[in-house]
Amino acid sequence: MGRVAGGVQGLRIVEVKEESPIWEQIWPVVEQLAQRPYFEADAGHFHSSHVLAAILEDRSVGFLRFVVQRLGEDEGRPPIVFRDRTLYEAKIIAFGVLPEERNRGIGRTLQKEAMRRARALECCQVRSRSDYGNSANYHLKISLGFGIQPSLENDSVYFVMALPAEDRLEFSGGEGA
Ligand SMILES: CC(C)(COP(=O)(O)OP(=O)(O)OC[C@H]1O[C@@H](n2cnc3c(N)ncnc32)[C@H](O)[C@@H]1OP(=O)(O)O)[C@@H](O)C(=O)NCCC(=O)NCCS
Repeated sequence: MGRVAGGVQGLRIVEVKEESPIWEQIWPVVEQLAQRPYFEADAGHFHSSHVLAAILEDRSVGFLRFVVQRLGEDEGRPPIVFRDRTLYEAKIIAFGVLPEERNRGIGRTLQKEAMRRARALECCQVRSRSDYGNSANYHLKISLGFGIQPSLENDSVYFVMALPAEDRLEFSGGEGA
C-alpha cells in the first residue's frame, strides 16, 4: 500500500479528544515511541491542547500533539500585538509514527493537518523543537518549508512555520522595496 495523489492510501487524520474510543488506541504508539512525558505535559500557559491521530485501516500508526499558547509566554516574554490582536502560536510537543510505517508520508500528512488546524485556531505560526541528529525529522521539516533557529540553550533547533492569514497580508502593488 503506497502513497497516492493527495496522501497515503487508506490514511485518515482525526482530531481526538480524551472521551473518544481512538484515544485508547493511541497510547501503545505513544508508549512505544517513549513520548508519554510530552503527550501528558501540562503547563499553565497552555491555552488549549490538540491531539491528531493517524489512522491506517482502523489502526493507530502515528500521532501529533500541539498546544496553543500566547507567543512568548513560555519564555516569560510580553505579548506581541498585531492589529490590536495578541498573537498565539501552535507548539508541537509530541510527534511520531510507528517505525514500520515510516517514510511513506504519514508524518508529513500529520504536520500539514496540524498547520491547517493551527490556522483555523488563528495561530500565527507553528513551532517545534528537535534534537540535533534527528535526520528524518530535519528532512521532513526543512522540506515542508520550516525556518530554523538553532537553540543556544540545548542541543536542538526550533523549527518555525509562519501561517499568514490572507487578511494579514498587504499587497504592495508591485512597487520597489
Ligand atoms: C519524524 C517522523 C515522525 C517522520 O515520520 P514519517 O511518517 O516517516 O514521515 P514522512 O514519511 O512523511 O517523511 C519522512 C521524510 O524523511 C526522510 N528520511 C527518512 N529517514 C531519513 C534520514 N535518515 N535522513 C534524511 N531523511 C530521511 C524520508 O525520505 C522522507 O522524506 P521524503 O518525503 O522527502 O521522501 C518519524 O521518523 C518518527 O516517528 N521518528 C521518531 C520520533 C521523532 O523523532 N519525532 C519527532 C521529534 S519529537
